[in-house]
Amino acid sequence: MSDQKKKPCVVLGVTGGIAVYKACELLRLLQKQGIDVYVVMTKHACQFVAPLTFETLSGHPVAVDTFDRPATWEVEHIALAKRADLFLIAPATANIMGKMACGIADDMLSTTVMATKAPVMLAPAMNTGMWENPATQQNVQTLMNRGVHFVMPATGHLACGDSGAGKLEDVAVIAERAVEVLSRKRDMEGLRVMVTAGPTREALDPVRYISNRSSGKMGYAIARAAQLRGAQVTLLSGPVSLTAPQGVTMVPFATTQDLLERATEHVDEQDIIIQAAAPADYRAKEIAAQKIKKQNGEGMVIHLVENPDVAAALGRNKRPEQTFVGFAAETNDVLEHAQVKLKKKNLDMIVANDVTAPGAGFDVNTNIVTLITEEKMMSLPLLLKDEVADHILSAILELRAQK
Ligand code: CTP
Repeated sequence: MSDQKKKPCVVLGVTGGIAVYKACELLRLLQKQGIDVYVVMTKHACQFVAPLTFETLSGHPVAVDTFDRPATWEVEHIALAKRADLFLIAPATANIMGKMACGIADDMLSTTVMATKAPVMLAPAMNTGMWENPATQQNVQTLMNRGVHFVMPATGHLACGDSGAGKLEDVAVIAERAVEVLSRKRDMEGLRVMVTAGPTREALDPVRYISNRSSGKMGYAIARAAQLRGAQVTLLSGPVSLTAPQGVTMVPFATTQDLLERATEHVDEQDIIIQAAAPADYRAKEIAAQKIKKQNGEGMVIHLVENPDVAAALGRNKRPEQTFVGFAAETNDVLEHAQVKLKKKNLDMIVANDVTAPGAGFDVNTNIVTLITEEKMMSLPLLLKDEVADHILSAILELRAQK
C-alpha cells in the first residue's frame, strides 16, 4: 500500500448527528491502513463539525451539499462515485438510509452513493427510538438485501440521554470491517454456485398450507456473498419476503417436490450447492379440492405422507469435483444430529445451528453456527448472517483446495 497510485480509496460520507466528530478519528484510522480518504458531508453534518476539519485531515477538498456551482457539482459527484473502492457512510442517519432505500437522490451524498458501483457500507448512529422504528428496520433490511454492508450500532448511553441501541459502533471496529471489504478478493470467479433458501408450502386445501418458520435470510445472504465474490449464482427460493440479490438468477419453488424438480434441473452445471432451504418433510396425502370445513367440535385427522429428501436425492449423484453443503437446524444434540445428516445426505460440509439459541435461527439477522466436515469442526461466534455467509464460502473454498 506504499505506492501512491495504488492506494485504495474510501469515500467517507458523513451525515448529521452528534457522532460526526468520531468520523474524524475513523478517517485517521483508515489513513493509517494506507487508505486514501475523500469526504462528502451533508449540510446537517457541517453543523456539527466544519468541513475544514475533514479537509485538513484528508488532504482533499470536502464535497458538501451545495448546488451553488452546478457544473462543478455534477462532475464532482460522478468522479467521486467512480474513485471509490469502498463507499462508507459513518455516521449514517435514519434519513440517509431512508433515501437510499427509496432511491431518493436530492443532495451531494445521496446522488454520489447512488452513482457508485463500489461496495457500500453503512455505520448507523441515532436515537434508540429512531433505530427501532419499523421504517428504519425495514430500510436496513431492504439495503441489506441489495448487498449493502452494515456495521450495526452498539448499545450504550446515547448523547440524547437515552440508553439503548443506536450508538455508533467503535470506530476501530468500523475501520477493521472497511479494510475487510476492501481486501475482499473475487475468489469465486468462474465458479457456479446454487443456493436454496426459504420454506416450502404444502397445500391442505385451496386456502391452507403446512410450512415452517424459515425466513430465507441465511440462504439469501450466502447467494449475495457468493455473487460479490465473483461466482455465478442461481438462487432457488421458496416463498419469502426478501428482495432478490442483484445479479443472481432466481428460480422460485413452492413445495418440496417442486424444489426437488428445480434443483435436479440445475444441479449438473454447478460446482457448489448450498442447501439452506427448509423443505417440509411431509405433505397432505390428498389436497382437498374445496375448503375443509369445521368438524362440529370433533378433532381433525390429516393424513400426511413423507416428502422426498432433496439433499439426499441430489447427494446420490454428486460428482467428485462438486461440493455439496447442507444445513442442520436443530433444537437438541445439535452436533450429533448434524454429523448423522452429513453422512446420510452425502454432504461435504454441514452448517449446524441450534435454532433455540438467542440470536440464532429464524427471522433474525444473526446466527451462531458450527461448520462440520468429515475431518473438522469449527464453531463460529454470534455473527451477522452476512458474516456467517462469508465464513461458509471461505470454508468451502478451503475444502475444495484440499480435494
Ligand atoms: N433437506 C432436504 N429435503 C428435505 C428436508 C431437508 O433437502 N425433505 C435438507 C435441508 O435443506 C438441509 C438439510 O437437508 O440442508 C437438513 O435439513 P433438516 O430439516 O435439518 O433435516 P431433516 O433431514 O429434515 O431431518 P429432521 O427433520 O428429522 O431433523
